[in-house]
Parts: sequence; C-alpha cells; structure tokens
Amino acid sequence: MTLRKDFLWGGSIAAHQCEGAWQEGGKGPAIMDFVTKGSNKEPRKITESIDPKLDYPSHLGIDFYHHYKEDIQLFKEMGFNALRISIDWSRIFPNGDEQTPNQNGLDYYEKVIDELLTNGIEPIVTLYHFELPIYLVQKYGSWKNRQVIDFYLHYCETVMRAYEGKVKYWITFNEMNHLDPQSEQSDIFTYLIAGLKYSEMKNPAEDLARIGYNMTLAGVKAARLGRTINPKNKIGCVFGLNPIYSYDCQPDNVLKGFLDNDRDYYQVDAMCNGKFPKYKLKQYESLNIDLENQPNDVEDFAKGSIDFIGLNYYMSSISEPNTPVEAETALFGGIQNPHIEQSKWGWGIDPTGIRYVMNYLYRKYELPIIITENGLGAVDQIENGAIHDDYRIDYLKKHIKAVKQAVEEDYVECFGYLTWGPIDLVSATTGEMSKRYGFIYVDLDNEGKGSLERSKKDSFDWYQKVIKSNGEELQE
Ligand code: BG6
Repeated sequence: MTLRKDFLWGGSIAAHQCEGAWQEGGKGPAIMDFVTKGSNKEPRKITESIDPKLDYPSHLGIDFYHHYKEDIQLFKEMGFNALRISIDWSRIFPNGDEQTPNQNGLDYYEKVIDELLTNGIEPIVTLYHFELPIYLVQKYGSWKNRQVIDFYLHYCETVMRAYEGKVKYWITFNEMNHLDPQSEQSDIFTYLIAGLKYSEMKNPAEDLARIGYNMTLAGVKAARLGRTINPKNKIGCVFGLNPIYSYDCQPDNVLKGFLDNDRDYYQVDAMCNGKFPKYKLKQYESLNIDLENQPNDVEDFAKGSIDFIGLNYYMSSISEPNTPVEAETALFGGIQNPHIEQSKWGWGIDPTGIRYVMNYLYRKYELPIIITENGLGAVDQIENGAIHDDYRIDYLKKHIKAVKQAVEEDYVECFGYLTWGPIDLVSATTGEMSKRYGFIYVDLDNEGKGSLERSKKDSFDWYQKVIKSNGEELQE
C-alpha cells in the first residue's frame, strides 16, 4: 500500500485568522472580531464592544481578503491540489438571522473558489471555523438556543446552492468537540466555539451539553441537506483529537486515561454512528440536564451521518493519575511526557500520536480520513532575507512519515494531508503573529506592523518536493 495517486496535498486556513477586511463587503461583526491579541503569558481579552485602544488581530488578519490571488499562486507553485478555507458566516448573513444573503459576501467567496479551481486546487470548505455572527450570541444566546440550528441550516443551504458543482468537500464544523460538560473550560475555548465565556455561564454543565448537542444535530442535518442539494457532495466534520495517554499501567490509571481520552469522542460517535450515544444521554439524565431534544432528532441522526472525518492533530498529553504524583508539569499545566519534547507554546511533539488517532478512528468508524490540520507553531528568524526553518521541516517530516505508516502498514484509509497555516496567520489561542506555522512568511508583527509582503521559507521548497513525489521524498 502507498498513498493513493489522487492524494490531496495542501493546507488549511480559516477566515477569521487570515482575511482581515472585517468591515468590508457588507460583513457583519463576528465573535472573533471582539477578541484582542494575547500571548503565551497573557490570555486574549474578550471585549463587549470594540475598544479603540486595543488590538484586534482579526481586523487585519494577513489581509488575505485583498491578497488571495497572490497567495493562491504561491500555493500552486508549491504543488497544492487542495486548500481548506472557511466561509465566514457573517460575510453571508451579517447578523446571522436574515432571510436574504449579502450578495457581496457570496461574490467574494465565489471569486476565491474560482481562483482555486482555475489553478487546479480543490476547495475544501469549512462552514464554521469559530465564525459566528455576534448578533446570534447577543439576541439568541448562541448555540444554547435551537433556533440557531435553523439559521445555520439556512446559511449552509445558501452557500451550498451558490457553489454547487464547484465545491464538493464541505465541512460542517471545525473542532466543536472540546466542550465536555463535566470538565472545567477556559473562557477562550468556549468563546471560540460558541461566543460565550465559560466563567459567565450560570449552569455550565447544562449549557455545554446543549451547545454540544445542538451543534452536533446541526452538523448531521447539514450533512443530509448537502447530499440532497447534490448527491456528489461529500460532507464531513473536523475534530481536534489529541490522544490522552494513561499515566502508567496501574489499572485505575489506565481506565482514567481511557475515559479522559474518550471524552472528546461523543460527537464523533454521534456523527458517524447514526445516533446520539446512549452513554451520553444517560449521563445527562443523571445530572438532571435537560437537552431540550425532540423526537424527530433521532431520524436526523440516523440519516445525517458524515461521509468522512477531518482530523486536526498537533500533540498528545497525559491523563492525571488518580493519586497525585510529583512529575514535571507541562508548560500549560498537566503532566509533561518525559518521552517527548514540547514546543515553545507547551504543545507535546509526538508523531506517533497521529498514527495512533488515525488507527483509533478508522477501526471505530471505518470512514475515510483526511488530515485537516497538522503543524508546528514556532518563532522564525530572518537571516539575510532567508528563513531556515529546519525545525518545521523536521516536525512535518516525522508526522507525514507516521501518516504514511498508518496507511501503508495499518491499512487506514486516508485521502489527504493538509498542514495548518501554510501561510503565516494569526494564532487562534493567543492572537499572536509570532506563532508561525507557514511555508510562506508574512511580514507582519504582533503589533500589526509590517509590509504584509510574502516570502518563501526553506520549508516551501521542501514541501514542494514532498508533494511532487506524493510523499516519497521526505528528506531535505
Ligand atoms: C486548531 C484550530 O485547533 O489549532 C486553528 O482549528 C488554530 O484555528 C490551530 O489556529 C492552531 O492553534 P493556534 O492557537 O496555534 O493558532
């Protein structure tokens, strides 16, 4: 077994992290437009309104809105045959609940999609990558409210019809699977997914359970809808799955490791198995959580299973043992795995982890997998106009090798590999520009200063060779 001949190679970007132009083309304000720049030490601030004294990185992004043609040329030069973009809901429906779409927004994405197709690049479109019109939070309370499911479906139908025949791969949601009702969350995570701060939730367990349920239901309804619009459409969902290993082989710790790891999977189960899992419904019942689910939902889950799984993979972590132990702490809390290194932002670098998750997913669901995000956020130094990012090449090389092993030795069905941020863009968790993932450098600093000029890093040529050889040539 080798990688299939039509294997998709490319990268993934998200509207709110790259487009900028936050008030152009009739776009409405969306949740991330209210989040300031942060750093490793200082979390991003979520503001009620725009404070002119603060920096909001989504307002400029990397100005992809005006540079998309130039950027797509660079992707083409690298040999991309796929690019995952996201549509910002607030460009199509500025408030989110309108009946009539904003034609200007529809035209903009049509131009981007056409540009990709003309250059032989398959567009893979995410319908929701942390981009929710703020009005839906303010007026309806976000995804806690089932009405938002209908607004989302109207938006999905509008864009799926507008780009019918041009876009085949649709992704309903990016990483909505991190909101476990029973674990403590950070504000930025609940905000990214649903525009709500964890610390302000009156009944966090019920709110998170409802948000998770309603988004999952919206996803299966969208999958069904997408196949009705065009039976050739392939509808998937992207999950962020970082394996959580057991602390050691003490049986109770192994069980805890299993449960900690499994916590991120109930929505994968629901979207792949044709039903919302019983263990989750029973758990909610025992916690007196009222999901406000309805009898018809059962049919929606049964008929709305997804066609493929998108996997975002960056790192692995360790489950805390039942009895507290003295162990080295990872940069951002949790136990540091002594067998692996950490990135500057505390993410444990573990190529075997991607092979582990691919196997786990494929054996559980038997659905084709595409790696939708993988990459290393690092600080790049410019030396005489060049960027020698061997650390990035090293990370990607090891991960691509592990993906190949999953396909070639473990028989996992995988049809593509997309790196995160093939061009430098704004970090989602910290809002920094200095946490860079790209093969293409963007001259822009954390203060929003720079020429926005694009230039190639060493990894650009390396990835070009990888793609040309369909993953056979991984060396520098
Ligand atoms: C993924 C998100 O979870 O992680 C991306 O889908 C995000 O939007 C990526 O950018 C990397 O995280 P960060 O915080 O380094 O940008």
